[in-house]
Amino acid sequence: MNMITPQHQNAGRVRVFDTTLRDGEQAPGYSMSRSQKRRIAHALAELGVDVIEAGFAQASDQDFDSIQAIAREVRGPAICSLARCQQGDIETAARALDDAEHRRIHVFIATSPLHREFKLAMSRQQVIDNAVAGVQLARRYADDVEFSAEDALRTEPEYLAEVLAAVIEAGASTVNIPDTVGYTTPAEMFERIAYIKRHVRNIDRAVISVHCHDDLGMAVANSLAAVSAGARQVECTLTGIGERAGNAALEEIVMALKTRSELYGVDTGIHTQRLYPTARLFNTLMGIAMPRNKAVVGENAFAHEAGIHQHGMLKHRGTYEIMRPEDVGFERSQLVLGKHSGRHALRERLDSLGHHPDEAGFETIFTGFKTLADKKREVYDGDLEALANGIDPEATGPWAIEQWHASSHNGGTASASVRLRHEQGFEASEASIGDGPVHALLSAFERATGHALTIRDFQIHSLSNGGDAQGQASLIIDCQGREVRGNGVSTDIVEAAALAALEAVNRIERLQASEPKTKPAGVSAGAGS
Ligand code: KIV
Ligand code: ZN
Repeated sequence: MNMITPQHQNAGRVRVFDTTLRDGEQAPGYSMSRSQKRRIAHALAELGVDVIEAGFAQASDQDFDSIQAIAREVRGPAICSLARCQQGDIETAARALDDAEHRRIHVFIATSPLHREFKLAMSRQQVIDNAVAGVQLARRYADDVEFSAEDALRTEPEYLAEVLAAVIEAGASTVNIPDTVGYTTPAEMFERIAYIKRHVRNIDRAVISVHCHDDLGMAVANSLAAVSAGARQVECTLTGIGERAGNAALEEIVMALKTRSELYGVDTGIHTQRLYPTARLFNTLMGIAMPRNKAVVGENAFAHEAGIHQHGMLKHRGTYEIMRPEDVGFERSQLVLGKHSGRHALRERLDSLGHHPDEAGFETIFTGFKTLADKKREVYDGDLEALANGIDPEATGPWAIEQWHASSHNGGTASASVRLRHEQGFEASEASIGDGPVHALLSAFERATGHALTIRDFQIHSLSNGGDAQGQASLIIDCQGREVRGNGVSTDIVEAAALAALEAVNRIERLQASEPKTKPAGVSAGAGS
C-alpha cells in the first residue's frame, strides 16, 4: 500500500486531490451514474491527480458501488472515500476501498464553535475525542488517513492547533483545513497556515492540505495563498464544481502554479496538456456547456478578437498570452473530419481527445461517425466526443423510442406524439399539446410512461460549429425530491430533447427498481460541502 508521505510537506511538490466525484457531485445538477464516475476517474488518473476522492461510501449504495468499482479498476492515484468519525462510516469506506492499489480514508468532523454547538452539540473535548477515535479506527484499515477539520477557518486558531496535534498523534498523515463556507480571504488563509506550522508541535509528520469553497469567488486565490504558506496538498474539482458556488477549480490552480512558478516554486504531477480534454469530457458527460470565458479551459481563453491584440500577438505571442494553448491541450485550429476521413484519422483524433476505445467500441464509434458525416459535412471535436461518450449504459432500457413526431407553427399550440416500446414487450403511444414542440413532446412522454417529468432545468447547446451542428439537450427532472438527468444529442434539437427525455425516464425506472438506501443525516448539508 502506498502512503503519501509527509516529507512532501517541505518539498516543492503540491499534491492534487480531486474531489469532483464527491464534493463536486454534491452540486445541484451534477449527479453522476456509476459508469460516468468510472469514466471520469480514469480521465483523472490520466491527468495525473494524486488522489481521487471517489465518494462518500456510507451515503448510499450507489456511492459505495461507484467507489468500489473505481478502487478495483483505476490504477495510479490513491482512491479515497469520505467518512464521518463514526464506526459505520469508516468501516463502510474501508470495505469500498478494499481492492484499491492505494487507498485513503478521509475522516472529518466539524470544529468551529457554530458547528460544535448547533450541529454536533459537542464540547471541544468531545470533538477531539471523536476525531482521535475516528483517525485511530481508520488507521486499522488504511496507512493513509486524512483528517479534515470542517469549518476550520471559523475555528479558534489555538483550538484548531490542538485538534490537529491530536489527530496527527493518532496517525493522520494529511491534515486538511477546509474553508467550508468560502468565508476566508487570501491574507487570512496565509496567516492561518503559517499559524498551524508554528503552533502544531508535530506538524512535520503530516502534509497540510486546503479545501476552499468559492462563495466569495476566492477559492483559487485562497488555495494559492495556502500553498505560499506551506500547504502541500490542494483539494479541487474539474471546472470548480461543488456545493453552492463550488470548490477551487483544478485547472486554475495547476496553471497558476505552473505559469507563476518563479513565485510559488512548486510543481504538481498534472499532465497539463490533458486539462482541456478532461474538462471537456466532464462537461459533455454532464451535458453542461462550458462558459466561453472560463479561465484556462473556456473556448475564449485563447481567442484574441481586438485588432490591437491581434497585432501584438502577430509580433510576439507573449504580448497578450501568458500560457500557451498547447500546454493545456487546447488546439488552435480544430481538425475537422469529414466523410472521406478514414479509421486512422478518427483513431488519432479520439486519442488526442482522451478516448481510447477497444476494437469493438471503436467500430461502433466509426459507424456512428460515418452516419453523422453523411448528414453534416464537417465533423468537429464536440461531435466526436458525443459519439465516444455514447449512451450511458446505466440509462439504456427499459424504454426505447419507436417513433416520435412534433410540430409547431406561428401563433398556435404545438403538438407531439410518441410511440415507445418497453423491454417487457408492450408498447405505449400517446399524443399531447404544449407551449412548444419540446413541451408537447415531454408531456407525451409523461402520458406514455406514467412518470411525471417535473423539469428543474432544460438546456440545449450546440456541440460544434455551423448551421448543421449537433445540439445536446440536457434535462434535469425532479423525481420525488431526487434529481434525475437525461442527455440527448442529434442534429435535430427536438429529437435531442426526445432522447434526453428517454434517458431520464429510463433512469427513473432503473432507480425505482433498485431502491437505494437513504443518505445519512448530514451527508450533503452537514458534510460541509
Ligand atoms: O467543505 C468541507 O468542509 C468538506 C469537508 C468534508 C472536507 O467538504
Ligand atoms: Zn467541501
